[in-house]
Amino acid sequence: MSDAPLTKDSAANPPPADALVVLDSVNKHFGALHVLRDINLTITRGEVVVVIGPSGSGKSTLCRAINRLETIDSGTITIDGAPLPAEGRELARLRSDVGMVFQSFNLFAHKTVLQNVTLGPLKVRRQNKAEVEARARTLLDRVGVGNQADKYPAQLSGGQQQRVAIARALAMEPKVMLFDEPTSALDPEMINEVLEVMRQLAREGMTMVVVTHEMGFARSAANRVVFMADGRIVEEAEPHQFFDNPRSDRAKDFLSKILQH
Ligand SMILES: Nc1ncnc2c1ncn2[C@@H]1O[C@H](COP(=O)(O)OP(=O)(O)O)[C@@H](O)[C@H]1O
Ligand SMILES: [Mg+2]
Repeated sequence: MSDAPLTKDSAANPPPADALVVLDSVNKHFGALHVLRDINLTITRGEVVVVIGPSGSGKSTLCRAINRLETIDSGTITIDGAPLPAEGRELARLRSDVGMVFQSFNLFAHKTVLQNVTLGPLKVRRQNKAEVEARARTLLDRVGVGNQADKYPAQLSGGQQQRVAIARALAMEPKVMLFDEPTSALDPEMINEVLEVMRQLAREGMTMVVVTHEMGFARSAANRVVFMADGRIVEEAEPHQFFDNPRSDRAKDFLSKILQH
């Protein structure tokens, strides 16, 4: 079988009415390196999309472009119908519609867990402090670290810190959550507690884009698997179809390598 893209053609299939994140012909270069090649991807409300692919295939750049941490060279990205603005207050507001959780937890070391979660809503959203704190405590309870609220990040395990990072992103009441290898820096025994929080979020209907090597999570939680290689979306399919019956040679090769471990 050839490696011709087994993906949807954006021109032939306009975004559905419940589209939340739409990437249309997105291209991105780093110097001579073409890292995102004509990416067409529509994520609908409540959908969980797992992005997998070899190292260097552009998965992180894709996430960072959706969150506008990276500019793009051509194409468009819209969130809930609004094109991503280049900069300014509109960008700050729109960015807060997109929650992001990174591999490295990126918590503020000199702030308590509670302060980490309340900072964004207080600063960007300018909401009432008592309400923000009450909501933050509820979120910390939800991710299972309510009793750690007054500690500093360094006093928590990696799994707890990552759950705080999820609570912090949720505190901004995002429309979509992006996870870029959220468990890759964790000790094995902590991976599941983070994946369980993500599964719960998915069950509650959160729209999620998850870059991960956790194939069990992809199988059980994803509505769709997007496979990237060399900056392209090579294949996308429902998890059972993708894992049991990959169509492209690149996906077959990738799966045979990772599933041997
Ligand atoms: N800031 C950057 N400057 C130059 N090259 C970059 C930068 N960020 C990523 N790259 C390159 O872009 C390609 C895609 O990277 P990335 O999106 O991080 O891939 P992945 O997350 O799939 O491993 C890689 O070749 C990487 O080295
Ligand atoms: Mg990456």
